[in-house]
Amino acid sequence: MTIGVFDSGVGGLSVHRALVQRLPQADFVYLADQANAPYGGRPGEEIVDLTRAGCERLFEAGASLVVLACNTASAIALRRLQQTWLPGYRKTLGRPVNILGIIVPTIEAATGLPWEHEAERRGDKVEQLDVLGVFSTQGTTNSRVYEIEIDKRKQDLAVFSQACPDLVPMIEADAGVVELAKAVEGYVQALKTRIGRYPDRAVLGCTHYEIIADIFRAALPAGTPVIHQPQSTADSLERYLERHPEYDPGTGGSRVFLTTGQPGPQNGLVQSFWGGPLVFEKA
Ligand code: DGL
Repeated sequence: MTIGVFDSGVGGLSVHRALVQRLPQADFVYLADQANAPYGGRPGEEIVDLTRAGCERLFEAGASLVVLACNTASAIALRRLQQTWLPGYRKTLGRPVNILGIIVPTIEAATGLPWEHEAERRGDKVEQLDVLGVFSTQGTTNSRVYEIEIDKRKQDLAVFSQACPDLVPMIEADAGVVELAKAVEGYVQALKTRIGRYPDRAVLGCTHYEIIADIFRAALPAGTPVIHQPQSTADSLERYLERHPEYDPGTGGSRVFLTTGQPGPQNGLVQSFWGGPLVFEKA
């Protein structure tokens, strides 16, 4: 058995890398749905259908667990698939399979609280002490998942989301650093204008943005803490596997990279993030 890692494109590689470092013996299959990327501007129903097709492909490839290394798919499709598709699919397949997202570990990291925690509702107005800036795709921003879930748990943390719709297409198309820095600076300034100051902390709420994390760090005031999804997702997966021995992650240490798009070497931006050549096979 293997662990499947799914994203619309190359962004999920940032999560994959952290998972592999944490579980070096496990077998991994990565699937990039590059034929349909970006997901961020698509209607919700399409995101659900595409995410289901991606999970199915990974389960067919032997995955026992699929990690949705994509905020947009996690925010819009995960609950739907877990409730309406997975129970029947498990029966058809005849073995335990599950899908995990990356929003839960990110919210745990942002609040410092376990997912089960619910804030005590107070009648009086809570003074918002800290401002968390979340940079994400249009789909994730529109879902308001970070605002809603953080407010349930921590009422002294105000969340402001900033959609960055140009970034995923630019990263997939190997845009230059100068062009990317200009776009990121524009989004950081737009967020600053809306808040009235810079955020106290930031979440790179789209896995593609990890590939250009240095550019975000340079656009934010020096020392702004940035919550990194790959690390929190790796922590969470490790704990999940300890609690659920029925999901077999494999022991062969194999790595397979599949794409629904153009197979072959990934672009320069991705390979410099990856630290070497990276070739995707046809899914
Ligand atoms: N990496 C995906 C995410 O985390 C990008 C989605 C897209 O294709 O727009 O949201």
